[in-house]
Amino acid sequence: MRRDVDLHADRAVSSDASDVERHGEVSLRPQRLVDFVGQRELVGHLEIVLGAAQTRGHSVDHLLFAGPPGLGKTSLAAIVANELGVGLRVTSGPVLTRPGDLAALVSDLDEHDVLFIDEIHRLPRAVEEVLYPAMEDHRLDVLLGRGPSARSIRLELPDFTLIGATTRTGLVAAPLRDRFGFVGQLDLYEPDELERIVLRSAALLEVSVSPAAAAVVAGRSRGTPRIANRLLRRVRDFAAVSGVEAIEEAIAVAALELFGVDERGLDKLDRRILGLLCQQFRAQPVGLLTLAHALGEEPATLEDAYEPYLLRSGLLVRTPRGRVATESAYRHLGLPGPGGGLV
Ligand SMILES: Nc1ncnc2c1ncn2[C@@H]1O[C@H](COP(=O)(O)OP(=O)(O)O)[C@@H](O)[C@H]1O
Ligand SMILES: [Mg+2]
Repeated sequence: MRRDVDLHADRAVSSDASDVERHGEVSLRPQRLVDFVGQRELVGHLEIVLGAAQTRGHSVDHLLFAGPPGLGKTSLAAIVANELGVGLRVTSGPVLTRPGDLAALVSDLDEHDVLFIDEIHRLPRAVEEVLYPAMEDHRLDVLLGRGPSARSIRLELPDFTLIGATTRTGLVAAPLRDRFGFVGQLDLYEPDELERIVLRSAALLEVSVSPAAAAVVAGRSRGTPRIANRLLRRVRDFAAVSGVEAIEEAIAVAALELFGVDERGLDKLDRRILGLLCQQFRAQPVGLLTLAHALGEEPATLEDAYEPYLLRSGLLVRTPRGRVATESAYRHLGLPGPGGGLV
């Protein structure tokens, strides 16, 4: 029997409680840059930025990390603070509703500390505006009170580093984006990188996983470390209840089949997206809004959390007139191709 448990349910949520909080077990988050698998170009650039700041004894330039959920933005922010040996304060755009919220946070920072703002594209406009002088000149003007008795006070801030995370740089207002000294784009991971992440996580979880089993988990993780770790945990659970100690390929396959993760790692919503494109809209290009409407999902969720993998795996293409499923999507769903015959 196959059960459709949604293993990807929180994929759209980019601000996440750490693995420790959520699972009550060891954290799989890499702590140092050397433990961070993949993203070689970005890591190389970061090494230079961090090294230069350390030799000059300055704070690191403000950094912006962009990319789909689960690729390591929050981990990188923590790694930067760790590598520099400075404090880290974590918050997120939607949480900072008033300028005073930001003021309370930044005025409490120590020299060189890192302030991490997740989902920075969701900062309210009024908060964004007080952030500009804080980033540029380390000062913050806060308005106290209302009406004629209102007065503005200026806070001098320590030399801090702001790290922002966003699912897409295009969502960050240009004036804010321009104030970051470095923008790092995270891309979906290659299967061999995910395999290394799975083996590393297995070691941390103290479970024995063969390289072939790790490759199965990696291949079904949609290019996303967070999903790789989640699938690994489900495989581990399955092995535990089956009384298996060493996880081999067949156990990994059986576990993931049971949880409804197909060989390409597609989940229910992925399959519904492709199903709509292949059946209801059969071979017609579909606009993002129409598609989101038909699925009852936010357009941003589709664009940030679903499309990158479907595009990369060649199941979906974007044309100027809309999204179209490819022949391999029809094949994957076992449907006759748009041309008629079975492709
Ligand atoms: N490059 C990486 N190497 C090893 N593990 C990673 C890497 N990137 C992400 N992870 C794992 O995936 C999880 C999700 O990463 P996270 O930093 O929370 O992603 P994001 O903030 O981009 O949504 C982390 O807890 C960590 O275990
Ligand atoms: Mg995050």
